[in-house]
Amino acid sequence: MAATSEKQNNSSKPPPTPSPLRSSKFCQPNMRILISGGAGFIGSHLVDKLMENEKNETIKTNVIGTLNMLGLAKRVGARILLTSTSEVYGDPLIHPQPESYWGNVNPIGVRSCYDEGKRVAETLMFDYHRQHGIEIRIARIFNTYGPRMNIDDGRVVSNFIAQALRGEPLTVQKPGTQTRSFCYVSDMVDGLIRLMEGDDTGPINIGNPGEFTMVELAETVKELINPSIEIKMVENTPDDPRQRKPDISKAKEVLGWEPKVKLREGLPLMEEDFRLRLNVPKN
Ligand SMILES: NC(=O)c1ccc[n+]([C@@H]2O[C@H](COP(=O)([O-])OP(=O)(O)OC[C@H]3O[C@@H](n4cnc5c(N)ncnc54)[C@H](O)[C@@H]3O)[C@@H](O)[C@H]2O)c1
Repeated sequence: MAATSEKQNNSSKPPPTPSPLRSSKFCQPNMRILISGGAGFIGSHLVDKLMENEKNETIKTNVIGTLNMLGLAKRVGARILLTSTSEVYGDPLIHPQPESYWGNVNPIGVRSCYDEGKRVAETLMFDYHRQHGIEIRIARIFNTYGPRMNIDDGRVVSNFIAQALRGEPLTVQKPGTQTRSFCYVSDMVDGLIRLMEGDDTGPINIGNPGEFTMVELAETVKELINPSIEIKMVENTPDDPRQRKPDISKAKEVLGWEPKVKLREGLPLMEEDFRLRLNVPKN
């Protein structure tokens, strides 16, 4: 009976339209891939392979992407901003980090695709500036957080907030004493606009000098969002910088900028947005 009705349906219904992704390459930049069973034997090897591709894409985006945008800026005579990163300082030997510090980056490590990619992007910006007179601006952004952040891209603030809302343990990568400085997104945007409106090419550090260990951040998220959850220590990735804090003297002097939003004020604003997106209403 079921077969008959299915046959009837088949004759009246056109075949489903094939997915537009059917003939595209399996692994493309920015494609989201869900691997169920990714912790298993074959799955874990598949994840390793796909992560390798991701690293190639990261360095390509930073180098070729910046070159393409510089080409466009040159053609149309635009002023161009590179959102570089505090990662150009690597695992810094100077603390806090001023713009004059050249950094301590491992060129062949697992994180190098991002760090070195951004360093090359900065070089390209200055070469184009010197050779073609392009008006450039470079911001060295320190960890930034706020509403609309990607929920599952593995950054520490979004990880902790999502875990707290889902009632999962907050996973702190060992040793937990490594520090970061967190800038709320409205402060970041204010700094970037001032940089674009001013005359200084940069690089200029834009970040919040408030410095927190990862354990302190986890404890703050726990206290603010879900006091009943556990904090769990997990293995870390290699070359994780031990400390990170911007020296923002140059931003203060050149841009008249400093951040206003404290971590304890910014986290609840991000929590509100994550609650809506994860559908976890406040009790
Ligand atoms: N959020 C932070 O804490 C932080 C810290 C330091 C530097 N930055 C830099 O600031 C910038 C923005 O960061 P974000 O947190 O908004 O990141 P994000 O990942 O949320 O956004 C990046 C955007 O770039 C697009 N993109 C990626 N590859 C591309 C490609 N090949 N061609 C065109 N578009 C591409 C993505 O689709 C996405 O829209 C990035 O350059 C990042 O490296 C961010």
